[in-house]
Amino acid sequence: MPKQILKFPKDFLWGASTSGHQIEGNNTNSDWWAFEHSQRREQDLLNRGKKLEDYQSGIACDSYNRYDEDFALAQHLNQNATRIGIEWARIEPQEGVFSEKELNHYEKVLQSAKAHGLTTFVTLHHYANPLWFSRKGAFLNKRSGELFTRYVSVVADRLNQYTDFWLTINEPEVYATHSYLLGRYPPGRRSVWQTLKVVNHLIAAHNGAAKILKFKTGKPVSMAYQLSDLEPSGHLSYVSHFLAEYLANEYILNRTVGTCDFIGVNYYVHHHVGIFGIRKHSQSKHEQNDLGWGIHPEGLGRLLVKLKKYNKPIYITENGVADAKDAFREKFIKDHLFYVHAAIQQGANVKGYLYWSLIDNFEWLHGFWPRFGLIEIDREDLLRRKVRFSATKYAEICKQNYLEY
Ligand code: BGC
Repeated sequence: MPKQILKFPKDFLWGASTSGHQIEGNNTNSDWWAFEHSQRREQDLLNRGKKLEDYQSGIACDSYNRYDEDFALAQHLNQNATRIGIEWARIEPQEGVFSEKELNHYEKVLQSAKAHGLTTFVTLHHYANPLWFSRKGAFLNKRSGELFTRYVSVVADRLNQYTDFWLTINEPEVYATHSYLLGRYPPGRRSVWQTLKVVNHLIAAHNGAAKILKFKTGKPVSMAYQLSDLEPSGHLSYVSHFLAEYLANEYILNRTVGTCDFIGVNYYVHHHVGIFGIRKHSQSKHEQNDLGWGIHPEGLGRLLVKLKKYNKPIYITENGVADAKDAFREKFIKDHLFYVHAAIQQGANVKGYLYWSLIDNFEWLHGFWPRFGLIEIDREDLLRRKVRFSATKYAEICKQNYLEY
């Protein structure tokens, strides 16, 4: 079949995302760093025969120092946008004490992004907390919104000039469930009650921060929501599906979208809905990434069309694949973009796509082995950056603003 040319809207943003803790290195003042070095975590890794250095962020990709090289590569790959994370733990190392040095650092980082022609999305919270904040109970604390907003307000004053879009909190639903329900991320709790409390405090924190950001900067604001495509399984009722949709996608969105100027969508997986709305990663019938997650590009299209009801511009703030051999990344990107294009044809106001991730990085509990990067980080060779073949294919799309499919 002859290939079709699928054009994207004028001024579409093309780029890739990263987060602070996952690439910078030495985020030593954070709860994630403390967790990685806790006796319990280390013993657990050793019992499983793992090398600690593969599961501790350490110097990560050293992007704290090598950011300019990373942005230069993004520019070389025809990207016109980037999403970075800044670390609260660096900026406010002690409660109420803001580090000029770190604010200057992030100013330089953003200046560099701009000098490389990149529109900037800045995430203010991506899973990691300052230690002092986690000692106060983090988002379990009823003052958490106020504490977060104070930090956001300082950042708004200092980094506004080089920021085009703000993302307040990355994946509140993942943060809350992994940290307070499933016991996987610090502080490792398993409590439905605490999860609900944290979710509601995150909602309040976002709404407070969004108001400040708008007032001080006037720039567009969103959360980065991880949204799922849900498929009812067989006999399961409408009620289970409705419940899953509500818990997975709508509870937080409905309570925060009012203070958002756009919707930041992180899309990875498609889920089957089980009884009581419990979700299961769908794996059958699909190709899988290196982490065993099923690949389901149609789901992204369906999701984007569903989001039309909110009547806001949409930016895809993450979508990516762990593929160390770079065997299916090109196809992954093209298949997802095919459905993004189809959703745009159906009226979804999608204005940008940021692949996750620009470079291989520290993949939280999995350590360094899952490879999401357009650019490989060679950990055996001084963290050398090596552009993957799929990145050059994505670069063609970024340049042409169309997909040949
Ligand atoms: C998170 C990233 C993570 C990616 C791949 C997203 O949900 O925001 O931090 O690296 O998933 O697991």
